[in-house]
Amino acid sequence: MTQTSYTVQARDGQARLGVIRTPRGEIRTPAFMPVGTAATVKGMMPENVRETGADILLGNTYHLMLRPGAERIARLGGLHRFMNWERPILTDSGGFQVMSLADLRKLTEEGVTFRSHVDGSKHMLSPERSMEIQKLLGSDIVMAFDECPALPADRARIAESMALSMRWAARSREAFGDRPGHMLFGIMQGGLERDLREESAKALVSIGFDGYAVGGLAVGEGQEAMFTCLDYAPGFLPEDKPRYLMGVGKPQDIVGAVARGIDMMDCVLPSRSGRTGQAWTRRGQVNLKNARHADDPRPLDEACSCPCCRSYSRAYLHHVYRTGEMIAGMLLTWHNLHYYQELMQGMRGAIAEGGFADWEAGFQQVFEAGDI
Ligand code: GUN
Ligand code: ZN
Repeated sequence: MTQTSYTVQARDGQARLGVIRTPRGEIRTPAFMPVGTAATVKGMMPENVRETGADILLGNTYHLMLRPGAERIARLGGLHRFMNWERPILTDSGGFQVMSLADLRKLTEEGVTFRSHVDGSKHMLSPERSMEIQKLLGSDIVMAFDECPALPADRARIAESMALSMRWAARSREAFGDRPGHMLFGIMQGGLERDLREESAKALVSIGFDGYAVGGLAVGEGQEAMFTCLDYAPGFLPEDKPRYLMGVGKPQDIVGAVARGIDMMDCVLPSRSGRTGQAWTRRGQVNLKNARHADDPRPLDEACSCPCCRSYSRAYLHHVYRTGEMIAGMLLTWHNLHYYQELMQGMRGAIAEGGFADWEAGFQQVFEAGDI
C-alpha cells in the first residue's frame, strides 16, 4: 500500500487533466503551487492561500535548513503544523538554491559545501542529507538532489552536470527508501540539448520515481527556447506519472507548458510581483505604481471574484502601494494567486471538455489585448 497515486482523467492534445492523491489531500492537475520558501507564502495567511484554490504549496530545503533548521521544525511537529498548512507540501531539494543564493560554494561528487547567505555559517548538502532534511520537514513530495548550470552554458558543462545529477538521483532514490504516503520525484536535466534530455529521462526512468520534473529551464534561455525543449522533453517521460516544470512562470509560460504536457508548476512570480506593485490579470500585467491609477475608482479586474477586486479600487491599491502600506502587498498577492488558480481551473475545465485549443486561443487574445 503506497497511499499515493496519480490518475489521468482526460487528455486534450498533449494537455492532461488528472489528480494526485496523497494522505494529506488531492492535488488537481494541471496544478500551480504557490511558493512558501521560508514556511510562509509571503503576505498571506495559509487559510487564505487555500481560498485562492491552491491544493499544494512549495517549500525550500535550502532556506529552512539554514533558518530555523530542519531538526527544529521536526521537534515542533513538522512543516505542516509549523506553518499551519495541513494539505500537501512539495519541497525542493536545495542544490539549485545553493547554486543561486549561497556563498563560497564547492561542488564535488559527494555534494556541495557552502556558506549561508544569511549569516556566513558553513553547511553541506548531499543527496543523503537532502533526503534526511525533507523527511524531517515532513514533505509529501520530495525532490531528488540535483544541480544545473545557468543558460547559456556549453554542452560539455551541461552534459557533465546532467550526469552528476543522475548519479545524485540514484543516491536520492536509495536514501529516500520506502515511505508510504510520500512521493519522490526525479529531476530531468540536459539544458536545451535534446539528446541529453533523452539520456537524462532514461536514467531517471530506470531508477524509477513517483513523478518526474523538468529542471534546468527558465534559467535565462527565454520562452521560445523553453517551449522548443518542452515540445519534446515531456514525451521522454512516462505517461502514467506526473510531470512537473520547475520555477515557471508567467501566465503565458504556464499555459504553453500545459499545452505541451506539463501537470505541475511553481513560481514566485504571483507572490513576488504582488509585493512590488505588479498585478497579473486576464488582460496581462498591470503596474499599480503607475500614476494613471491614482483617480481610477474601478477594481483591478471587474470580473475577478477575489477580495482585492471585490472591495478595493485601483486608486486605493495605487495609494497604499505608494505609501508603503503592508496591505498593498497583501491585496495584490491575494489577487495574483487567485488569478493563477483561476487560470489553472480554466485549463482543467477546458481539458475536461476537450476544448483546450479554443480556450488557449481565447486566453491569448484577451491577455495580449492588454489592460483597460
Ligand atoms: N527550480 C527551478 N529549476 C530547478 C532545477 O533545475 N532543479 C531544482 N532542484 N529546482 C529548480
Ligand atoms: Zn482579483
